[in-house]
Amino acid sequence: MKKGLFITFEGADGCGKTTQIKLLNEYLISKGYGTLLTREPGAKGLGEKIREILLNYDSEVSSNCESFLFLADRAQHVDCIIRPSLKNGNIVLCDRHTDSTVAYQGYGRGLDIDKINLLNEYATTGLKPDLTIVFDIDAETSLKRVGQNKDRMESAGLEFFKRVRNGFLEIAEKNPQRVKVINALDTIDNIHKQVVELVEKL
Ligand code: TYD
Repeated sequence: MKKGLFITFEGADGCGKTTQIKLLNEYLISKGYGTLLTREPGAKGLGEKIREILLNYDSEVSSNCESFLFLADRAQHVDCIIRPSLKNGNIVLCDRHTDSTVAYQGYGRGLDIDKINLLNEYATTGLKPDLTIVFDIDAETSLKRVGQNKDRMESAGLEFFKRVRNGFLEIAEKNPQRVKVINALDTIDNIHKQVVELVEKL
């Protein structure tokens, strides 16, 4: 039984969502809410080991295998961390979740989106975010912000990041109730204000 609120932050690499999720977390704590700040891939425990493989394995990884690793990480995360925290009444803030698999493995790698939706449903046992904020950034700026030290995913190239961006925008278009888009090129302060506005509506 879900009691808390589940909010996910999404967007291409370098979009600034990690800065924003921390600011929102501080804001909510200052208002007296119980929160859990977490991420995918790589929440505490087994997730950290899966993250290590996903981002640093330096030989061939099939797109299917990549998807299943993200989904395995998600299943563990939802069952062992997110659901228990929601049950305790917390506001769970999650840096990346189901929409990243649709955008990166679906739109980016070209896997079947309907199948990914189905697998996401399976991995999350039907849990859906109450709100998802997509931080929209063009592919060129995204790659510039990532810089020289790229992990395995960030090395996928400009065309890949264009497809990922387009993926996030299409997800938002298809789910207007749940998913809101913010321009990631605005100032940190302005973006934070927009985030707070969205969250306060909940
Ligand atoms: P991370 O360092 O957490 O990137 P960021 O700070 O931009 O969130 O690395 C996560 C990478 O994994 C990122 O490139 C996005 C990618 N990813 C997927 O491809 N599919 C997924 O389902 C998830 C959760 C992440």
